[in-house]
Amino acid sequence: MGMDQKQTVLRLSAEKLYAQELEALRESDRDAKPAGWQLSPKAVLTFITGGKAGGTLITPKYIGNKRLIEMAIATLLTDRALLLIGEPGTAKSWLSENLTAAIHGDSSKVVQGTAGTSEEHVRYSWNYALLLAQGPSDQALIRSPILRAMESGGIARFEEISRCASEVQDALISILSEKTISIPELGREVAAERGFSIIATANTRDRGVNEMSAALKRRFNILVLPSPSSIETEIDIVRRRVAEISANYELKAAQPDDEAIRKVVTIFRELRSGLTLDGKEKIKPPSGVISTAEAISLLTGSMALAGSFGSGQLSDEDVAAGLQGAIVKDEEKDRIVWKEYLENVMKKRGASWRSLYSACTEMNG
Ligand SMILES: Nc1ncnc2c1ncn2[C@@H]1O[C@H](COP(=O)(O)OP(=O)(O)OP(=O)(O)O)[C@@H](O)[C@H]1O
Ligand SMILES: [Mg+2]
Repeated sequence: MGMDQKQTVLRLSAEKLYAQELEALRESDRDAKPAGWQLSPKAVLTFITGGKAGGTLITPKYIGNKRLIEMAIATLLTDRALLLIGEPGTAKSWLSENLTAAIHGDSSKVVQGTAGTSEEHVRYSWNYALLLAQGPSDQALIRSPILRAMESGGIARFEEISRCASEVQDALISILSEKTISIPELGREVAAERGFSIIATANTRDRGVNEMSAALKRRFNILVLPSPSSIETEIDIVRRRVAEISANYELKAAQPDDEAIRKVVTIFRELRSGLTLDGKEKIKPPSGVISTAEAISLLTGSMALAGSFGSGQLSDEDVAAGLQGAIVKDEEKDRIVWKEYLENVMKKRGASWRSLYSACTEMNG
């Protein structure tokens, strides 16, 4: 991203955000590129997991099991599509966007799955004014992101696929097995160029991946993205992403220090697992999702508070406000769960936690 040019877009796509890294990888890439790919599989791996390209440092985008990423990339070399599943906030969408940016250079071909997604969103629809005026024509055709990816030999993303109705999922089966979409109104068939694939995501908390038809699931290689295995990994993810995201928002606050991050991640891991880190005490989990992604947005939110209304240094009051918002989603129940945690766990942790404990207790009322 050129710093001379002021960025006004709220959120840059991965290919824009990491344009320099992608360029450096393209220049230093000595391995063969599969048909339709902008980078070799090894260079894609470096983009996702971090490393060097010539003299340029490549920041890790996904932090975790490297083998998992190798398997994801290898899937896209075959005729199977890739389905990333897991708990909320395990970087399914983030990984899908970055893989697509690295391989295809355009992560914007996205179908968002909802209960209202129709077959037309998956295949094509018409500009009805033109259709009525001229009859079916190429100009009147509105291509879905998937159809456009087929024509360009690129990757389409399908977010939250398990939330779609079964007709929509069925339409996808034929696309994934035939690799064509027929447009009978124009008397033609679009056959996918080499390089075409789909990366779909689904969240295991929503209406289940289990409810997807077996026929559709067979057309995907399914990879499960786990919650971060160790506290150190999770701290690393949170630290890096908070730094990147807050820089983008220009928050005028200092980065949270390691101690603040460690405390937030500790609280999150304990509430998520229902057990203190030392395994000695059981904890009631709150109703909402206590994911890594929530920890990241909690800390950037606290930085916004500190930057705009505080000293610019993250205070325990700023963190307490963030924790309250992240944990107490259901007024009644979660307030009690949080209070129990504060009294039974945090209060007993001694001097270094005392000030955060007081701030949280005051917030929780
Ligand atoms: N292992 C990880 N490595 C790097 N970033 C991570 C990791 N886990 C979570 N994150 C960060 O968490 C944030 C949210 O991730 P994302 O939106 O992709 O989650 P998701 O799995 O799609 O969640 P949902 O199921 O709610 O859609 C991103 O900013 C991402 O960088
Ligand atoms: Mg997602």
